[in-house]
Amino acid sequence: MNQAQNSEQNIDVLLVFTEMAVLDSVHKEVEDHFKRPIAAARFQNLLDAVDHLEKTGKKYGLIVFEHRSSSLTILRAFLELGGNGAYVLCGLDPKIVQGLEGSDTTIEFIQADAVLSELPKTINRLEVTGRMPMMHREESEYILVRPDYLPSMGPLEATVYAQLIDGHYVPVFNQGDLVEKQEVEKFLESKKLTHFYFRREDCAGILGSRQKDLDRALSKEPIDEKATTKAIERGHSMVRDVVATMGFTPEAQKVAVSSVSATIKLMGAKPKLSTILVDLKNKDGNYLTAHSLMLGKVCCALAFKIGWTSNTTYFKLTLAAFLHDLPLSNDKLATVFSLDKASESGNFSTDELKEIRMHSNKAADHARSMSEVPSDVEQIVAQHHERPDGTGFPRGLNSKFITPLSALFIIAQDIIEYSQTFKNKEVDLASYYDAREAYFNSGVFKKIIHALKHDLKIL
Ligand SMILES: [Fe+2]
Ligand SMILES: [Fe+2]
Repeated sequence: MNQAQNSEQNIDVLLVFTEMAVLDSVHKEVEDHFKRPIAAARFQNLLDAVDHLEKTGKKYGLIVFEHRSSSLTILRAFLELGGNGAYVLCGLDPKIVQGLEGSDTTIEFIQADAVLSELPKTINRLEVTGRMPMMHREESEYILVRPDYLPSMGPLEATVYAQLIDGHYVPVFNQGDLVEKQEVEKFLESKKLTHFYFRREDCAGILGSRQKDLDRALSKEPIDEKATTKAIERGHSMVRDVVATMGFTPEAQKVAVSSVSATIKLMGAKPKLSTILVDLKNKDGNYLTAHSLMLGKVCCALAFKIGWTSNTTYFKLTLAAFLHDLPLSNDKLATVFSLDKASESGNFSTDELKEIRMHSNKAADHARSMSEVPSDVEQIVAQHHERPDGTGFPRGLNSKFITPLSALFIIAQDIIEYSQTFKNKEVDLASYYDAREAYFNSGVFKKIIHALKHDLKIL
C-alpha cells in the first residue's frame, strides 16, 4: 500500500447504543483504537439507524450496536441495509448471532456489560483478519473509471491509472493517447483488473469538457444528431463514474441537466415510438447508458401520444431516465426487470440482488440532491421498479400508490423489455398492447395503456 493511500485511509463508523453515556464511551474507544477523531454516525435506537441507512443508502465499515429488545425483523433489516461492513453486536446471548446465519455478513458478539473492555480486542481481530472494509471513498485521490469509457473519449483528457495488487496506482495511458477497445481489454485481462482510475483533481476538467461538448451540441442549428448523441452518451458515462466515487457533485448535476436538454432537443417536438425503438437494435457499447437514454425517449414518445406534451413533463421523464439506474455498478444489473426472475435465474450473487433492490432509493437520493428539480423526478426514480399488482420492489406498492408519471415510466420500461424480443424485425406495438392490457388494468395504468392503445389523449 502506498503512502498517500495509507494516510488517507478512513473508516466510516456507525454506533447504536441506547444510553448516551455508553454511546460516548464506545465512540471514544473507537477513536482511541484508530488514534484520531472519527465522525461516527450515532443513534440511540436501531429503528432510527435503519431509517438513516434506508434514506441515505450510506455504507459503513464498522458498525457497533446494542441489541437487547429490538425485534429480529428490525435486526435483519439493519444488517441488510448496513451492507458488508463488520458488525459488532453487543447483546446478552451469543446465540443470537447463529440465528442470523445465512446472511454473508461479519458479526462479532460481545457481552453487553463487557463492551468497553472487549471492543478494542474485537476491532483489532476484525482488522488483522481483513474483515473490516476500509472506506476511503471520499478521500481517495483517484476516482474509478469504467473501461468502456476510455475508447469513447477520443484523445484522453487525462492520464489513466491502474491500481496494482500492492495498492500502487501506476499510469497506464497518457493524456492525449488514443486508446482502442482491444488494447484496454488486453491490459485488464493481463493484469486481472476490472477498471481504471483518473486522478480526482483531473476530474473537474473532464466534466468541464463534457459540459462544453453538450453546450456546443445544444447551440448548433440544426442539431447535429450524431455529435449530440455522442456528447450525451459520454456525459452519462462520466457522470456515472463521478457519482460512484465522488457523489453527485454540482458539476455532474450540470452535465446531467444539459444531457437531458440535449436529449429532448434531439427528439424534436413529435417524438415517435416506432422510430425510437429501431435504435434499440443498433446499440452496442455501454448498455446502461444506452438503456437510460433510450428509456427517456420512449417515455417522451408515450407522453406525446397521450397528450402530455409540456416541456416540463419531457424534462421530468428524461431526467428520471438519466438517473434511474445510475447507482448500479455494472451493466448486467441494469438488464434486470424482475427481482424474482433474477433471483431464480441463479445468475446474480446475494450482494448483486441486494444492490438491485437498493438502487431505486439510491437513485432517488441523487434526484433529491439536485437543486431546483421537481419532486416528481425523485418519485419516478424511487418507483421505477414497482408494479401495478404490488409485485415490484423496493416497496411492493400497488397501482393505487403509483403516480401517473411513474406509471408511464414503468410502461415505457415494459415496452423496452418486450421490444428486446424482436431482434431483427419491427416491434409490433399493437400486439404489445393486446398482450399487456390485462396486466396494466388497474389504477392510473389502466387509463394510460387504454389511451396508448386507442390513440387517445389524457389531458
Ligand atoms: Fe432500475
Ligand atoms: Fe433501468
